Parts: sequence; C-alpha cells; structure tokens
Amino acid sequence: MERQEFLSKLGIGVAAVCVGCAFASCSKSNNGPSSSGGNAPAPGSGTVFTADLNTELTSVGQNKVSNGVILVRIAAGNVASSFTAVQVACTHEGTAINYNTGQGIFICPNHGSEFSTNGSVLLGPAAANLQKYNVSIAGNILTVTA
Ligand code: FES
Repeated sequence: MERQEFLSKLGIGVAAVCVGCAFASCSKSNNGPSSSGGNAPAPGSGTVFTADLNTELTSVGQNKVSNGVILVRIAAGNVASSFTAVQVACTHEGTAINYNTGQGIFICPNHGSEFSTNGSVLLGPAAANLQKYNVSIAGNILTVTA
C-alpha cells in the first residue's frame, strides 16, 4: 500500500515536470526561426556577446557562434567592416547555417539556402532574410549587439 501510494505521488510529480517541459517547449517554438531567429535575442536587447580579437577570429573565414548568432571574419583588419554577424538559424526550418569562405556566403546544409554576408536571401527555399546584428570594436574587443 505504501509503495503504491509512493508511486502514485511520483507519477504526479513526473507529470507536473513534463507539463512544465511542454510549456517551456511551446514558448521556445513560438519564437521560431522564421520570425525571430530561433535562439537569437530580440532586437534592441543590447550586447549579444563579445570576442577578443587577440585570440579569436584571427583569420578570414573563422567564426564564433553564441546566443543564436554567427559572427564571421570576412576580411583582414580589426575594423567593424571586416566582420559580419547574423542569426545562425536558417529562416527556412531553423538549421544552423555555415559560412563558406570560398564563396563568401552563408549556406544552409539542410536544403541549400544561401544568404549574403548581410543576411539577404540569395537562394531558396528560405524566403526570409537572416537577422543582421551590429558589430563594434573598441581596442581588441569586438562586441555584437542586437
Ligand atoms: S533549413 Fe535551411 S534551407 Fe531548409
């Protein structure tokens, strides 16, 4: 009897946790990649992340992904125009995009959508542009902001 009562209570506890998970999943999926960039912070939310240019992104094509954003060095020199930052989640179905250094574009490995370095769609099936983020540099610290 005690065992059965314990298992019964445990079942309720597990169910409550699962309901909580389901709600968490729902709220995340409501911010889907096509509308806000998946895990990307909302516009105007300030600093997304920083990079130390002494040790990170030292050569063209290197990238850093954090907080739903991919930052890529697209040219030499530690000036803002040498970098681009866009949402990492493809606007088609949310797959993480990659930067193709040879072509100088972002390519989604899932269905082949292509995006320019400013996030514009070059080739579908994606129909919406990637969200672009601001890049600023002070000393050797690069900051990505929404
Ligand atoms: S998820 Fe990127 S092209 Fe389909």
